[in-house]
Amino acid sequence: MKSDTGALDALLSEDRRFPPPADFSAAAVVRDPEIYRKAAENREVYWAEWAGELDWFEPWHTVLEWSPPHAKWFLGGRLNVSHNCLDRHLSGARRDKTALLWEGEPGDVRRYTYQQLHAEVCRFANALRGLGVEKGDRVTIYLPMIPEAAVAMLACARIGAIHSVVFGGFSPESLADRNNDAKSKVLITADGGWRRGGIVPLKANADEALRDSPTIEHVVVVRRGGELSEKVATGLQDGRDHWYHDLLAGASPESEPESMDSEDILYILYTSGTTGKPKGVVHTTGGYLTQVYATTRAVFDLKEDDVYWCTADVGWVTGHSYIVYGPLANGATVLMYEGAPDTPDRGRFWDICQRYGVTVFYTAPTAIRAFMRWGDQWPGRYDLSGLRLLGTVGEPINPEAWMWYHRAIGGERCPIVDTWWQTETGAIMITPLPGLTDTKPGTAALPFPGIEATILDNNGEETSAGYLAVTSPWPSMLRTVWGDDDRYRATYWSRWPNVYFPGDGAKRDQDGYLWILGRVDDVLNVAGHRIGTMEVESALVDHHAVAESAVVGKSHDIKGQSIAAFVTLKEGFEGTDALEEELREHVGRKIGAIAKPELVIFSADLPKTRSGKIMRRLLRDIAEGRTVGDTTTLADPAVVARLQKMYAEEE
Ligand code: WTA
Repeated sequence: MKSDTGALDALLSEDRRFPPPADFSAAAVVRDPEIYRKAAENREVYWAEWAGELDWFEPWHTVLEWSPPHAKWFLGGRLNVSHNCLDRHLSGARRDKTALLWEGEPGDVRRYTYQQLHAEVCRFANALRGLGVEKGDRVTIYLPMIPEAAVAMLACARIGAIHSVVFGGFSPESLADRNNDAKSKVLITADGGWRRGGIVPLKANADEALRDSPTIEHVVVVRRGGELSEKVATGLQDGRDHWYHDLLAGASPESEPESMDSEDILYILYTSGTTGKPKGVVHTTGGYLTQVYATTRAVFDLKEDDVYWCTADVGWVTGHSYIVYGPLANGATVLMYEGAPDTPDRGRFWDICQRYGVTVFYTAPTAIRAFMRWGDQWPGRYDLSGLRLLGTVGEPINPEAWMWYHRAIGGERCPIVDTWWQTETGAIMITPLPGLTDTKPGTAALPFPGIEATILDNNGEETSAGYLAVTSPWPSMLRTVWGDDDRYRATYWSRWPNVYFPGDGAKRDQDGYLWILGRVDDVLNVAGHRIGTMEVESALVDHHAVAESAVVGKSHDIKGQSIAAFVTLKEGFEGTDALEEELREHVGRKIGAIAKPELVIFSADLPKTRSGKIMRRLLRDIAEGRTVGDTTTLADPAVVARLQKMYAEEE
């Protein structure tokens, strides 16, 4: 846990409060505070009410079966997620409503009504069936932020295939690892995508990954189009590779949705943990859709004419739950943007908000801090008066960034929902309700109605400062780790009996608000991206010059955290600038650019206990420039002073 108690005390003495504006509350989707009491009184009845707003082919007979640490929700119920996101909106006015409004980085625009999106998804579902994809098969999706990413996910959901979306920034090796762990049968990719004026060569990466992905039988390639497709010569391998548009040309726009059991798997999403190997978080159908539907509606206060924009990438869970499944299950108009916020200039997001009349905007603190650094003049050039609600997710938001968001983007009139959740929780867990909750800068406030979360100490006793804990099962919880139920038990359920351990530290204030303080395990949060220290360490020691490495997080003004790597070299190698750069590139190649260490410190030795365990705590102190804690258990206490000196020189 961060031991910077000064900052913590400052946080908890935060006394600015922002009650919801009266007109916002009066019109809010959730405006009766009784919802908290009702949900607490009978959580199963409460969640069943939300589930009842979805379309079920067969009703459930039991709401919850809890045999710790395994939960099942809405047992016996049958439904299809793509049917709920598309078909059920086709009978009324929503048929011609815009479902997806997409803008590419170069400025190309595509719009799909619900009917058009339905037809496209059905065509692709048929095409996938034509390639032999059956219910339960795994399909890897490695795409840029283009409409086909949503189409591919929904098409998988339609036929009961399990998708595994891999963020386009991951390296070929990371892609191959994920293909192999899931034993995916099909890979869906694109010739490329635009990012900051450059091209992300997805097909070339995919080809590299495919040399080491023996289970993949077919590859579907989307032609991104325009100038990009002219620039990227995409070679297709006969028999294995297929153009997306060729497959769709011959496919019927009608496709029966597979009737799925509530507990059938919807997707796997790999996320970093405390070992070198990312884990495949498994989400199922009925409970997941119920909670993403409910939270999207209640937290984002969705109304029929909202234009809703979540800036996440579909490669992360936020994109799954709050670009695709939650908003579409609600029949919303979803904006999707392909590229970077500073292309062609730093006003791009606000230009988009103005042009499309965005009303609800959901982004990450790291982005807000970058906007803040770029200055008020960028949002100041645009009319942002259409915005009525703002959200943040991904890491703790510092009060200064919150206040800036409130003023410069929200015009001091928009409530801000600071939403805490995780890949594993599937949906929002702790959040203000925008029409009910007084917000305070820096806290996610209270558990969503129907969620039971608290703060516990090591012994499982309630405390006001300790570990965040979720004390009862929730509908969208992960069901297991793909292929590794032992890891599921060990990671999340072994700290306390039958209580979920998210890996975050937290404090409770006098109003009962929960302040999330960040990870307490060896997971870093770099610009909202989850990265395991062990993953980076494995990548480093994979380099022929490296003997040993220890990776820690270091506070960063914009990214929240950046990566500092302490490295000892093998005999005969010298820690030069060139080698430092080579190691950075090596990590980029092994994992992806997001994992490149910002700082590499070469050292003859690392602080170890007499039994040989690296004391990361001390390295964290060094990286943060803090007074170094207790060193008495070190085999060689002098190593700390040496490292501090080297560190100061490097920085
Ligand atoms: C952190 C992203 C503070 C937290 C949806 C969590 C947050 C991890 C918040 C999950 C927030 C997410 N306040 N911290 N509002 N939201 N986190 O799996 O450490 O990519 O455990 O899911 O992000 O990251 P993940």
